[in-house]
Amino acid sequence: LSNDLKSYLGYQGGELHFGLHPRPLRDFTQGYSRPTYIYDIDIIRTRFQKMKKALNGVGIYYAMKANSNLELLKVLKSEGSKIDVVSGGEIDRALQAGFTPDDIVFSGVGKTVRDLSRAMELSIYQINVESIPELLRIIELAGAKNSKVAIALRLNPNISIDTHPYIATGLHENKFGIELSVLPEIQKILQTHNDRIELRALSLHLGSQMLEFSGLREALRILKPVYKDLQIKFPSLQRFDFGGGLGINYETTDLFKEQQDLDSYAKVIFEELSDLKAELQTEPGRWIVAHAGVLLTQVQYVKETPYRTFLVLDSGMNHLIRPALYQAEHQILPLNICGSGRKAYDVVGPICESADFFAKNRELNEAQQNDFLVLADTGAYGFSMASVYNLQDLPEEILFSSGSR
Ligand code: LLP
Repeated sequence: LSNDLKSYLGYQGGELHFGLHPRPLRDFTQGYSRPTYIYDIDIIRTRFQKMKKALNGVGIYYAMKANSNLELLKVLKSEGSKIDVVSGGEIDRALQAGFTPDDIVFSGVGKTVRDLSRAMELSIYQINVESIPELLRIIELAGAKNSKVAIALRLNPNISIDTHPYIATGLHENKFGIELSVLPEIQKILQTHNDRIELRALSLHLGSQMLEFSGLREALRILKPVYKDLQIKFPSLQRFDFGGGLGINYETTDLFKEQQDLDSYAKVIFEELSDLKAELQTEPGRWIVAHAGVLLTQVQYVKETPYRTFLVLDSGMNHLIRPALYQAEHQILPLNICGSGRKAYDVVGPICESADFFAKNRELNEAQQNDFLVLADTGAYGFSMASVYNLQDLPEEILFSSGSR
């Protein structure tokens, strides 16, 4: 197998290696002062290119909420990515990384007057509108500025996908997107204010960590006729944005299976959408960056009680909230596996909350105080969701290129 079909993380000679061109993670422990996210630029590049190849011709707008590290964004920009943002802060970061307003799609349910004004002053490429009051706010702002704004409508097709309820977004009970039943009202508003607003795109995002695509197919089948009908009424409608959400494997890193999943995903997209008169757009986050990052942490205490053995780390839910929030299980790996026994641990952080754990009753190699441990597949929704709760420091971030020596 070539490097990028094996794992990006594994043991060689008992030592944990990471990268498209595997490097010993021990190298990163010199000068360690606090928990550190380590990202391999070459994995980011290869993931982006794989997706670009599979979704040939589709505009890729990387969803920067997954990881908004400035240097990482520059890498994606240099690969030809465009960008999906959800706040004024993310617009600023995108511009700082070298993206132009024309590269930016602005999503999100709660856009403020300030954020919308900024987006409109910059004439960013596309604002994805999620409700009637948002549409009315944009029209009002456009009137005040005597300008015209290009928008997309994010639709909610009421389709469920197999994922954690906190990251499903395409159901009526979710706050996201516009219900199809209000489309007649929306059309009236668009027609009345056609001097202020122009419908350019429809968008959809069913949720995240999707590994099975029948729900996606169903949603596309619902939205296709909607698109065709609206295109007759609004000829400016020329784009269809099918969102992000392609999942990865957290349990084992089976990159061969992931390539197959990517291909099946692309197949569904092209089978359903190729007869549409539309430029296609997508907003992937996790798939591009999750495997490209690991979190390096250090054991502070091995705390034995009559009931449990705790590994108390210097990092917890403040740096990686996915286990606490979604019961996510990340692999936890020691830097070397020479000659140690196995033992069941609760792996916990320093934060004063009982939800502050990375794993419960997880069998790991026996660990000692000051040992380093690595949390796998934390390049997506790791640092970007980190907080300063308890006034703990934010983690450090290091980007390296595993291929350059
Ligand atoms: N587009 C929209 C409108 C979104 O809301 C999202 C993610 C994406 C694209 C990118 O989705 P992705 O390709 O990364 O699945 N914090 C959670 C994931 C939350 C996703 C939020 N929206 C986690 O750690 O699993």
